[in-house]
Amino acid sequence: MAVSVKDVALAASVSVGTVSNVLNRPEIVSPATVERVQAAIERLGFVRNDAARQLRAGRSRSIGLVVLDVRNPFFTDVARGAEDRAAEEHMTVLLGNSDENTTREGAYLDLFEEQRVHGVLISPLTDDMPRLARLRERGTPVVLVDRESPDRAFSSVAVDDVVGGELAVSHLLESGRRRIAFVGGPEGLQQVADRLEGARRAVAKVADAALEVVSTESLTVLEGRAAGESLREREAFDRPDAIFAANDLLAMGVLQALTMQGGVRVPDEIALIGYDDIDFAAAAVVPLSSIRQPATLIGYTAVDLLLKEAAAAASGADDHVHEHVVFQPELVVRASTRA
Ligand code: RIB
Repeated sequence: MAVSVKDVALAASVSVGTVSNVLNRPEIVSPATVERVQAAIERLGFVRNDAARQLRAGRSRSIGLVVLDVRNPFFTDVARGAEDRAAEEHMTVLLGNSDENTTREGAYLDLFEEQRVHGVLISPLTDDMPRLARLRERGTPVVLVDRESPDRAFSSVAVDDVVGGELAVSHLLESGRRRIAFVGGPEGLQQVADRLEGARRAVAKVADAALEVVSTESLTVLEGRAAGESLREREAFDRPDAIFAANDLLAMGVLQALTMQGGVRVPDEIALIGYDDIDFAAAAVVPLSSIRQPATLIGYTAVDLLLKEAAAAASGADDHVHEHVVFQPELVVRASTRA
């Protein structure tokens, strides 16, 4: 049986209200009484039920964050930025991993709604905005992370992935490459589709350039390794002279398949560029060129937008305008694409 506030009050010979004051406003209680109550808390092993207290206040001081793949350092950097901004408001972040699976994504949305979180940040798998609209209508503010909502019905923070894809492939073309392979998928993921669109725009500007798509099931090292193996096994004349991987995890897998298992020289025979600029990119066996996303700033900004959404919802304001923050990607050149 959990120790209650009443047990502590009895043990310290004070009222329940005094125990509550010691827990929440010790400055208004005499030091002797604070010491006596804290001794009783220690002796009885009392643990405050913060969730119940927060729910009595109407809404939790936690924020739910649903990311696509918790193994991807990009999202842990996003979570770090979200935590930094939440901590400024004495709030916490609860992390959910959809694992690029719609069932898991839905389960986390249900869980965070039941927990009455202050709001939900989500990098959504699909354009299933009605699901998120219903969540908001029932009282849980929502901000999209790393995505803009197609109808701009939600506040969002993202990077312009079309510009990012064009940056990556323009860099390959400017270094003389002409047979470009785009490795990425699923194409239903907006980030992948936008990066591919940018790649197509870059190739369209160079007459003798060609782009082929090597689709993957997901954006993981394993999928990257499989794609790299399929390209390595081709006759040398049939291979691309450059690869743009839709994110750094894919690029790491491609690099592994080409260099450590296949003896293909990067960048001499095949140049390689990724996306995100996670810390491991610079530390790769051939330091990886990448397109940098300000992941920590994305997370920090997302919480900022969510706090504004929650304040507008609480005030009942009907003139609130959702904000769409779009950061610009940055080309980071390292050994894997140097001419
Ligand atoms: O997981 C999806 C990818 O899209 C991540 O690598 C990151 O680039 C995000 O924008």
